[in-house]
Amino acid sequence: MSHRVAVLPGDGVGPEVVNEAVKAVEATGVEISWQVFDWGSDHYHRTGLMAPEGFTDELEKHDAILMGAVGDPSVPDHVSLWGLLLPIRQRLDLWANLRPARLLEGVPGVLEGREPSEVDMLFVRENSEGEYSGVGGRAHEGMSHEVGLETSVFTRAGLERVLEHAFVLAESRRGQVVSATKSNASRYGYVLWDEVATETAERHPGVTYERVLVDALAARMISNPGSLDVVVASNLFGDILTDIGAVIQGGMGVAASANLRPDRPDIGLFEPVHGSAPDIAGQGIANPAGGIWSAAMMLEHLGEEAAAARVHEALASVCKSGPRTRDLGGSGSTVEVGDAVAAAVAAGTELS
Ligand code: NAD
Ligand code: IPM
Ligand code: MN
Repeated sequence: MSHRVAVLPGDGVGPEVVNEAVKAVEATGVEISWQVFDWGSDHYHRTGLMAPEGFTDELEKHDAILMGAVGDPSVPDHVSLWGLLLPIRQRLDLWANLRPARLLEGVPGVLEGREPSEVDMLFVRENSEGEYSGVGGRAHEGMSHEVGLETSVFTRAGLERVLEHAFVLAESRRGQVVSATKSNASRYGYVLWDEVATETAERHPGVTYERVLVDALAARMISNPGSLDVVVASNLFGDILTDIGAVIQGGMGVAASANLRPDRPDIGLFEPVHGSAPDIAGQGIANPAGGIWSAAMMLEHLGEEAAAARVHEALASVCKSGPRTRDLGGSGSTVEVGDAVAAAVAAGTELS
């Protein structure tokens, strides 16, 4: 039976990298019925909405969603993101955002002298609440005593599920969980987070648990990335830490993500960590690696483990041999890199 995948190319470099991700998946021969939706900033200019009413119901009919990026300088970012990406994560309850930060061989990482084997972190980002709950308001707009409120919401149920998931994932890796909070300055939400983390750790005696304050963790990612295995963090901290992780693994263009609801794994959203990169959009030079890696994560989610591994191996071999895009020191175009990955996938498919 073919898998139903919704494709949301989105804005800026989104369509450029998604094309290459689709190509890599097609080369595996896995049967997919693709449905492409033209939602994004152009749709907003045409209709006043980033996507039609009820768009998340439409997405729920699929087994997976492959997305490029959202955001265009012509639309305020909070309007575009709250019109498309954030409602997908929230309404579909995709509460676990998995973001691997692994240095592939041949990719020049920013940390001098780090061996690829030293960089293998998995970020588990709480993806449904916290600082991104959307609770707040504005008062006295335009007046000198104008106010903006943004309230973080942490629920015990939300924390229990994401922390439990992080510990379970650590059991199949190197058995270490670092939980990032800021429970020195913030006295409520992150303190609850730490309490739930301690309880979760007690249920997983085989896993080493460390609470690390997020500022110190940002430094440790640079000074000693090899000491980090699974890192679990709130929505905002996970967002910031994974941009650092992306650069450690070669650049924004390389990092991938899966937005999942592990308790109901019948749908997931797969997207590179980077945004629409308006500074390079339309030039054909965006690195498709993060998009292709995300597509490999999608194949894994669809139960196509062998195809997922082939896409990942093909990506790793192209990163090593070239062609590479400019951000990785090469001169290849987005399409050249995508073609090379698809060819390597096809060659691997014939061998298997
Ligand atoms: P960005 O990730 O788009 O760009 C940051 C830097 O990384 C830029 O210099 C860009 O050229 C580079 N970069 C990004 N992707 C690249 C790629 N594939 N290959 C090579 N270089 C790449 O972040 P930003 O500039 O902060 O945001 C731009 C827009 O994207 C904003 O509207 C923002 O809200 C949106 N955004 C969307 C998502 C998403 O849809 N998931 C994620 C992040 C940002
Ligand atoms: C990401 C992005 C989004 C986030 C933005 C665009 C809302 O930065 O997926 O990392 O912060 O989650
Ligand atoms: Mn981000």
